[in-house]
Amino acid sequence: MTNRVLITGATGLIGRGVYSELGTEHEVILTARKISNLSPNDFHPYDLSKVDGIVNFLDRLKPQVIVHTAAVTSIDEVAQNLDYANLLNIEATREIAKWCEENNVRMIHFSSDFVFNGLKTNYQELDLANPISSYGKTKLLSEQAVQSILRNHLIIRPILVYGYFDGLARMNFPLLVLSNLRSGKKMEITEDQLRMPTHVSDVSEIVNKTLFSEETGLLHIAGSELLSVYDFALKIADHFQLDKSLMMPVKTHSANRDESRPLISGFDLQRAKSLFGYHPKTIEEGLRFLAI
Ligand SMILES: NC(=O)c1ccc[n+]([C@@H]2O[C@H](COP(=O)([O-])OP(=O)(O)OC[C@H]3O[C@@H](n4cnc5c(N)ncnc54)[C@H](OP(=O)(O)O)[C@@H]3O)[C@@H](O)[C@H]2O)c1
Repeated sequence: MTNRVLITGATGLIGRGVYSELGTEHEVILTARKISNLSPNDFHPYDLSKVDGIVNFLDRLKPQVIVHTAAVTSIDEVAQNLDYANLLNIEATREIAKWCEENNVRMIHFSSDFVFNGLKTNYQELDLANPISSYGKTKLLSEQAVQSILRNHLIIRPILVYGYFDGLARMNFPLLVLSNLRSGKKMEITEDQLRMPTHVSDVSEIVNKTLFSEETGLLHIAGSELLSVYDFALKIADHFQLDKSLMMPVKTHSANRDESRPLISGFDLQRAKSLFGYHPKTIEEGLRFLAI
């Protein structure tokens, strides 16, 4: 049986990863606003902030599963344009969840580690979420919308996802480090923010495993190592043999940003490991996949 899977945010990092993982096994259809360099036959452009048209759009495409990755993903952009971010991150998600419930369709929804306030290295799925940024608040409200409307859902929270595809919609951290160091540009990088960076293939593999599973609820996904963002940058520079002296470690309070970022973001991955055999890559393994 072929299953028709719709990926929203298909030109983004996670959307691209999921497409490359599922593309050969399922009938995959894609959406975002601009096509980028994806297959035009599979691509159906739509602006999901036009919430009133979502039902018609989905009625026309008739997916059997929806992997919903589209969102305003920049923490600063959310703060600068909160009304729009609320529309896309929360209201569009709610509308998709409603359509899924009415049409008996499973939804894999992407949330974020930024729903937590960043004080623990091992957050579990049911720990109290308490976001400190506008972005984190939109993601938490999107989770609550899905949970209250749709029975057959899985909400994946990943941490600092990285990877490379040609024509990506947005930079991710290692790509930014590589671009700056290769052009001899100095960078200030926070040394007091801890993360578990996740290679995009770990995320897309878990989506494949959970696509038709009967498991519902929240799922934490992350890489296998907790380290500071500065130490991650050092590993990137080492791996690609670039000049580390261009990178200056700074404390978060001097990084000159308006929106708060969680200081510590680490997950307990037990649920993903026991239910889906999740086995994330080390940083070294993930960097080897970054063949750029
Ligand atoms: N990457 C991470 O480190 C990370 C960490 C935690 C959680 N997440 C979550 O994972 C999900 C995917 O993240 P990502 O990093 O893959 O995002 P991304 O690279 O920023 O891509 C966002 C995607 O959403 C689409 N999009 C934006 N506005 C849209 C609109 N109005 N209508 C339709 N599509 C729209 C973009 O394409 P167009 O601009 O062409 O429309 C793009 O395809 C998000 O929900 C994010 O919150 C990501």
